Amino acid sequence: MKLSLSRLFNALSFTALIFVPLVHSVAPKAEVSERGMVASRSAWASQVGAEILDQGGNAIDAAVAVGFALAVTYPSAGNLAGGGFMVIHLNDGTVITNDHREKAPGAATKDMFLDASGEVVKGLSTKSHLAVGVPGSVAGLLSVLERYGTMDRKQVIQPAIDLAANGILLDRDLAEAFARRQKDFAPYEASRAVFSKDGELYEIGDRWVQSDLAQTLIRIRDGGRDGFYKGRTADLLVAEMQSGNGLITHQDLEDYEPRWREAIRGTYKGYEIISMPPPSSGGILLVQMLNMLEDYDLGDMGFGSSEAIHLMIEAERRAYADRAQHLGDADFYSVPVTQLTSKAYAKKRFADFNPSKASLSENIESGKVPYESLETTHASIMDGMGNAVSYTTTLNLSYGTKIVARGTGMLLNNEMDDFSAKENAPNFYGLIGRRANSIEPGKRMLSSMTPTIVRKDGKPILVTGSPGGSTIITTTMQVILNVIEHKMSLSDAVSSPRFHHQWLPTRVMHERFAFSPDTRRSLQSRGHNELVPLPPRYALGDANSVMQGEKGIEGMADPRNAGAAVGAALVAPLVESQAATK
Ligand code: DON
Repeated sequence: MKLSLSRLFNALSFTALIFVPLVHSVAPKAEVSERGMVASRSAWASQVGAEILDQGGNAIDAAVAVGFALAVTYPSAGNLAGGGFMVIHLNDGTVITNDHREKAPGAATKDMFLDASGEVVKGLSTKSHLAVGVPGSVAGLLSVLERYGTMDRKQVIQPAIDLAANGILLDRDLAEAFARRQKDFAPYEASRAVFSKDGELYEIGDRWVQSDLAQTLIRIRDGGRDGFYKGRTADLLVAEMQSGNGLITHQDLEDYEPRWREAIRGTYKGYEIISMPPPSSGGILLVQMLNMLEDYDLGDMGFGSSEAIHLMIEAERRAYADRAQHLGDADFYSVPVTQLTSKAYAKKRFADFNPSKASLSENIESGKVPYESLETTHASIMDGMGNAVSYTTTLNLSYGTKIVARGTGMLLNNEMDDFSAKENAPNFYGLIGRRANSIEPGKRMLSSMTPTIVRKDGKPILVTGSPGGSTIITTTMQVILNVIEHKMSLSDAVSSPRFHHQWLPTRVMHERFAFSPDTRRSLQSRGHNELVPLPPRYALGDANSVMQGEKGIEGMADPRNAGAAVGAALVAPLVESQAATK
């Protein structure tokens, strides 16, 4: 039928009336700046990072400043006494990762979390001084700054000192989190002192000053790594350990070294995937799953289609089964990295995929791979010079052990729970592990943290990652697939609902509105019987991400949480230096 001009005009004006032209997407708008971008879980920390970029710092300077700031403004995960991973892309194309994961103390033993009858003692690896791994964050951040930063220690640490010493006005996010955790903090005098006003709840709008933490940061600013791993802070940490039967000694602290490691590299339909090697399982599993999916056209199947979800669940099931058997600290256990990340292995591993039927986790054994020889919160930052940093850091569980080491203002991690306390016994995240991840003195516990940079033609186009324990890897994969396969804007890619499967337990967890009723039915008809929606207000991951967009560098704080993306040259100075702290 030929459209008359007037009918065409009517049709067009109708369109204009009902469709609002979108600048970005239906999800919350991403920030944009050509000068650089920082997306993190804490608006204060993102702002500190953006100010560093404004002052001429590069993405590495900004990432280090964000790391120290997070220890002050996002205490549930930001840390000085925890660990993390950083994936770095430099504008000359260099790619490198920094591993500052915690280590088991020298006196740790394989069975330290088992009782006399060989059973795992509940809570010992999460809520005790024994749960604490030797902290790596300070050594890691300082080594990154020294090697690739352009600013001095004082420039990047002072903002954190000022935030701790001057205090921040508590927002709802922090005030409510402190209130929820009071019971956990109650047994520890120093934790009560930091997170309450003499036992009374902090309220929204209260100024929250952390004087001990400011002093701990000042010792790092002035003494570098020795200002933390030796001297007063080390003495206080060791005294705290001794008061609670913890294992960390002065020797453990002095011996701690971060490691520079080659990144895990894979490709997916012409994009380069750069992520974290062991002791993280994140990079290997991410590349392995993407390899299994590469032969399929997920974009064509459509976001949220049962066909695409089924494929992704089956890839996840196989990859997580391999994790349990093969992954651990590669300095202690021969992890078959090359095999697990090869396209040929993925093809073989996925050969039994059935498009119309779910496989049973109990029938999915870990893949057999020939072994190699015996060697071996999330913030996203890009600057305007072409450098990019993907940074994930943690105390493990929220607020770690909940123990503030007396006199330091620092929360202690409970990363020892990431080891496999006993063959096939699930850890907090339900992940099982075996010999590859058993406890040994000086060994790093296996992680799921997946700081990742995606490149196209050698240039970073996406920086992403997430918290969320075992769900980190699948969250990161979904953000990447949303961008590459579903051609989503950054805001849609980060905001869209997510799901997760990890082989064992056999269930598929999903955000409440991730699966439509008919998608659920279609998945169930394939045999995915345990589809478990998260309760209201629960979510998977917190993927604060940055992407190269058409108009500049886009930044998106995950709308599931209270983070912020802040662009360089978009901020007025927030942090006033306080003379007294200098
Ligand atoms: O390294 C790991 O895999 C865990 N310790 C991460 C913990 C985590 O993501 C907690 N956040 N939700």
